[in-house]
Amino acid sequence: MPINWEKELIPFHQAVEELKIKFKGIREEYLSMGIHSPIELVMGRVKPVPSILQKAARKNIPEDQILKRMKDIAGIRIICQFVDDIYSVVKLIKQRNDLKVLGEKDYVREQKESGYRSYHIVIEYPIHTVSGPRNILVEIQIRTLSMNFWATIEHSLNYKYGGEIPTHIQKRLQRAAEASFLLDEEMSKIKDEIQEAQKAFAKKNTRNR
Ligand code: GTP
Ligand code: MG
Repeated sequence: MPINWEKELIPFHQAVEELKIKFKGIREEYLSMGIHSPIELVMGRVKPVPSILQKAARKNIPEDQILKRMKDIAGIRIICQFVDDIYSVVKLIKQRNDLKVLGEKDYVREQKESGYRSYHIVIEYPIHTVSGPRNILVEIQIRTLSMNFWATIEHSLNYKYGGEIPTHIQKRLQRAAEASFLLDEEMSKIKDEIQEAQKAFAKKNTRNR
């Protein structure tokens, strides 16, 4: 019997919507306390069926095993301002008891050949369907605004050139990746400055009390 994709993807939509609310809630909590939120933006999507089928064909996954084996049908993207924030978010995720971390890849410290940087975590997330609880695989990508800018552009170019980006454009992308890395580094330095200033300010205030 052919797979009824619309029906099969309902739990994946559920997982994406629930997780988006939860991560956005963390941001709200930080903001309400008046402190810097490691989470700047939260996005989520369920992979479109044609992309699911294309990827399954590429990875030789039989149709009846796709839902169990494909790890990024449900995807969450968390965007941060600073590189340090990525690791704060990773810590926050690992502390939660409403999900289980199955695997992680740190492409921030070990960037890909393409220049791609991001932290990937694959989790198992339980949702409650009418027929009972069910674990859904979700891929969480955590990256800075700068990393996201680069990855989004590279992704469009890959799409445009059917995965075969011309060499001279690849070179440009690698230079752009370097620039993106430098931007993150410079911003981190500014972040440290801000935090030091805040600490000095707090000290001065206790002295005057
Ligand atoms: P797939 O790449 O999804 O087939 O699985 P994998 O097991 O190789 O996982 P990996 O962690 O390498 O990639 C997972 C996801 O990260 C991809 O689906 C993309 O969304 C993203 N990604 C990985 N590498 C790149 C890259 O070079 N450029 C861009 N733009 N995105 C990437
Ligand atoms: Mg890959």
